[in-house]
Amino acid sequence: MSFLQRLIFALVFFICTANAQEHNSETGAEILLPFKQELQQALLGGLADGPEQVIDVCKLEAPEIATSLSQNGILLGRASDRLRNPLNTTPEWAAPILESYTNNPENREPQHVSLSENRTGYVEPILIQPVCLACHGTELSQSISTKLNLAYPADRATGYQTGDLRGIFWVEFVE
Ligand code: HEC
Repeated sequence: MSFLQRLIFALVFFICTANAQEHNSETGAEILLPFKQELQQALLGGLADGPEQVIDVCKLEAPEIATSLSQNGILLGRASDRLRNPLNTTPEWAAPILESYTNNPENREPQHVSLSENRTGYVEPILIQPVCLACHGTELSQSISTKLNLAYPADRATGYQTGDLRGIFWVEFVE
């Protein structure tokens, strides 16, 4: 192989693998987008009626939204190391990523994982924003805390501050 041929080969290889990776992480992020949008809509729509009402909306709608979008080989959800709803368990393959986000705040890049020959997993961190504090912060109103205690007796998802890691979005899909 001449030098030029090698160079072209290396370039083609570089471009192809770079594209493959980009495609891979884009697909995970793209699949998550409607999930995030629907959750946000439910949250903002409900907040207009008062945070206490949103707790009902979240309790009913968050799992429903995840189920309705889990079709065609796609499986997605939210998870956390400090769960509110004990059903939001972390898939086994995503657990080490959640752990590394927890232990390394300086490195919380989205990650994709090859799960089998044609199945890919994708994980993104979820950070606490000011709007989340009413239900996940340190000082909850009496009415919210009463409502949360009733709906989630084993709630571990309070005491957060803005910027804290709240959990992950995860998705499994067929390449
Ligand atoms: C009005 C109250 C309220 C607000 C505001 C709120 N949440 Fe929640 N959050 C809940 C409830 C209720 C659940 C449990 C939903 C369920 O049953 O799946 C929940 C569950 C979650 C979960 C799933 C993991 C778990 O612990 O079960 C994540 C992640 C989460 N919230 C992140 C956020 C983020 C990030 C924000 C701000 C953008 C936010 N929440 C704002 C009430 C709220």
